[in-house]
Amino acid sequence: MSSIKIAPSLLAADFGNLQRDVEMVNQSEADWHHIDVMDGVFVPNISYGMPVVKAISQHATKPLDVHLMIVDPDRYITTFAELGAAILTVHLEACTHLHRTLQAIKAAGMKAGVALNPHTNIQLLEDTISDIDVVCLMSVNPGFGGQSFIENTYDKVKALKELIQKKGASTLIEIDGGVTSKNAKALSEAGADVLVAGSFVFKSKTPVQTISELKQIAG
Ligand code: DX5
Ligand code: ZN
Repeated sequence: MSSIKIAPSLLAADFGNLQRDVEMVNQSEADWHHIDVMDGVFVPNISYGMPVVKAISQHATKPLDVHLMIVDPDRYITTFAELGAAILTVHLEACTHLHRTLQAIKAAGMKAGVALNPHTNIQLLEDTISDIDVVCLMSVNPGFGGQSFIENTYDKVKALKELIQKKGASTLIEIDGGVTSKNAKALSEAGADVLVAGSFVFKSKTPVQTISELKQIAG
C-alpha cells in the first residue's frame, strides 16, 4: 500500500488547456495540486497570480498546495485562504518573522508550509519545526520547471527527518524540483512524504499513468 503523496506541479501544464490539465490531475492518483506563485522578485521569473489560482480552484477536486515564491508573503495570506488553498507554503528566506507568519496561515484555516532553498540549512528550522505542517525542500533553485535535481537533497531529507523525529513533530517532508522515476524511490527511502513533479508528469504522453508509476515506484 503506497503512502507517498504525489503533487503534480501545474507550472508545467498547458495554460491554454488549464481546465483539461486540472481535470487530468483530478482523475489521477495524485494527492494534491501543486501551485507555484512567483513574483519576479524573490525568484527571477513570474508565473501566475490570483485570477489563475481562482480558475484552478474552480475545477480542482484535490487539496491545493500553494507554493509562494514571493517576498513578504504575509500580505496575501487571507487572499490565498479565500482562493481555496489547503496548504500555504512560504519561503524561510522571505520571512523576517516566520513564527508569526505560520500562526497567521493557521489562523486563516490552512496548513502551514515552509520551503527552503537548496543553500538553506535545515537546522534553521530547529525552533519552529513543531509549528510546521509541511517542509518543502527545494531540490532545484526555485523559479523554473524542468531543471536538474540537486543530489545534496538526499542528505537534507535525512537530516530533516532526524530533526522531526527528535522533536516529536508530525511534519511532512515535500521535495520540489527535478523529481522523476529515477530519484523517487531513493527520496522516499530517505524520508520524503510528498513528491512534487512538474515536467516529468506534464511532458509525459500518458500523464495519468506517469503519476501512478511515480506513486508505485516511491511506494
Ligand atoms: C520550481 C517550482 C517547482 C517546479 C517543479 O520553482 O517550485 O514546483 O514546478 O518542476 P519540475 O518538476 O519540472 O522540476
Ligand atoms: Zn513548487
